[in-house]
Amino acid sequence: MCGIVAYVGKGHCKDFILEGLTRLEYRGYDSAGFACINSEHKRFSYVKTVGLVSALKESVNKALIDGHVGIGHTRWATHGIANQENAHPHFNCSKSVSIVHNGIIESHEELREKLINSGHDFYSTTDTEVIAHLFGSLLKIHHTLKNAVLDLVSQAAGAYALALLMEDYPDQLIAVRRRSPLVIGIGEGENFIASDVLAFWDKTNKVFFIPDNSFAIINKDSVQCYDFAGNSVPIKIQDVDFKFANTDKQGFEHYMLKEIYEQKKAIDNTISFCRFIGSKDVCLKHIFDPNNKRKECKSNIDSIEYSEEIWQQLGLEIEQLKNLKQINLIAAGTSWHACRIIQFFIETICKIPVHVFLSSEFRYMPFFPKVDTVFIFISQSGETADTLEALRLVNSYNLPTIVVTNVVSSTMVREAGGFLPMQAGPEISVASTKAFSCQISILYWLAHRIALFRGLISLDQMRVAEDDLLVTAEVLESSIETYKWEISQTLAKFYAKFERFIFLGRHISYPFAMEAALKLKEISYIFAQCYPAGELKHGPIALIDKRTPIIMFSVLDDLIYQKLVANAQEVKARNGHLVSFAFEGQNELIKLSDCSFIIPRVKPLLAPLAMTGLMQFFIYQITKELGRPIDKPRNLAKSVTVE
Ligand code: F6R
Repeated sequence: MCGIVAYVGKGHCKDFILEGLTRLEYRGYDSAGFACINSEHKRFSYVKTVGLVSALKESVNKALIDGHVGIGHTRWATHGIANQENAHPHFNCSKSVSIVHNGIIESHEELREKLINSGHDFYSTTDTEVIAHLFGSLLKIHHTLKNAVLDLVSQAAGAYALALLMEDYPDQLIAVRRRSPLVIGIGEGENFIASDVLAFWDKTNKVFFIPDNSFAIINKDSVQCYDFAGNSVPIKIQDVDFKFANTDKQGFEHYMLKEIYEQKKAIDNTISFCRFIGSKDVCLKHIFDPNNKRKECKSNIDSIEYSEEIWQQLGLEIEQLKNLKQINLIAAGTSWHACRIIQFFIETICKIPVHVFLSSEFRYMPFFPKVDTVFIFISQSGETADTLEALRLVNSYNLPTIVVTNVVSSTMVREAGGFLPMQAGPEISVASTKAFSCQISILYWLAHRIALFRGLISLDQMRVAEDDLLVTAEVLESSIETYKWEISQTLAKFYAKFERFIFLGRHISYPFAMEAALKLKEISYIFAQCYPAGELKHGPIALIDKRTPIIMFSVLDDLIYQKLVANAQEVKARNGHLVSFAFEGQNELIKLSDCSFIIPRVKPLLAPLAMTGLMQFFIYQITKELGRPIDKPRNLAKSVTVE
């Protein structure tokens, strides 16, 4: 959601910025822009376009503009529609300041009024433009850039990341961070700024994460950083390992398809990583150490002895773990669906009660801080604004917080008490696929690891659980292969004709059915509603007709399966069209279905993971039939950094 890329250095900025914006496209946007201090006349040149970065590239290349310092942006509309006026960069009246911005300036209305009263003209309806005008005025009042920025941040309330370019300071850039991610890549004779390290992964692996509530003044050879009180902040440079940063489609038609197929490998990597960090003689720092010793340790996996150091990685004291009475899971969207599945794991395996919260709701509910609890935040990106704010809220009560994420360089990792990184590799398609299956896998592993610690399972059972995950990852992939041809040749065409679907699940397959309904809605734009199958007769049964296929996801628990069969009969008795995701041997359900996918049996708790690949592939193919922009669905953003 919105992306910032900026450059100052010995080279030219245009190609880097445009390429960086392309790499951040996955975050979601609807317009884009570029501005630089033109090498020829030393004044601003800029281009803004509505739509894709490719359109911006074309216009910038036609305009033949370039310079040694520049800023670029992809905008996801919040304040004002997606048009050229509202696209970033924005300028002050005299066009001496140019700015790009992620986030929201909460005080924008009162600032705008003040600025209009003192004679400023506005060209857009954005909250961002007020910052350009305000900063232009502050530069006239203050003698230094530092003081002007300090005054600016004292007036600008909200959560934001800013990159500012000034004609009167043509060798410098300013980067401001307040509750929105912004990083600096340190080069030789050049520096890079971006809202995600992916923008400059091939330029440098030396990264400075601007701390929250701080800003940096950057030129080609130096970076000075200050907090919002004006104190100098030391520049701590980290070496970031970019081994996963290659974001090519590798021959797949869409990122989503590539990522669906990457799941088995991503789960395998995640489990070997967990074994590795959970084992003895491990240097926990390796996560940021590009020369990590992972390979050496991997060879010892069969003789693994689990180490209690894992709890240190998670920021937990042994005593806290022993006394744990409740686990709270907090997330949004697909990650929340994963939490609802994970609840079954923890309650069944660790015998610890779990509360699951939607992060956007949690923040505004009464909060009763309790000792003997831990809060686990699950977020692919580690940046989702609501989840991040929920984390900050819990942190403010000094309770244990853990983040499970795919992005180790994310804000949540830096702010949580501990973290567990998944090894899914970058997920580019807006619709989450491999992150979802890795979230489920890593928490299945952690649930067993907690149970091992509490003496509820043996070492052998721990190893069996790891093997079960690997076997299920195999099933996830092989089931796609089994039905690939039939789905892509006939079934997708048939189901793409329907205008609405109902999804049903029960017990552990209910949150999975919610995830399936979300996947269908977000990428195909087909209306889908999900219910717990047992609720059918309490109202939704009135919706059953031939024009509304019912997609039912089975379970491997015999008792619950029998209940599902009864629900399937209710559907068929009303002439409903039933599609089932069933397991081998579930003949009653298969016979009742108009179409069924039969999946090899796995451990009952892993039933959703086994069905994940096929469910995603089926929905992907339906969407492809409809010709939708699968990787970048309308109105959506990959990283939801505004509330
Ligand atoms: C749907 C999807 C979203 C995200 C949600 C949370 O496919 O990707 O629902 O799951 O925006 O994002 P993260 O996990 O990054 O916190």
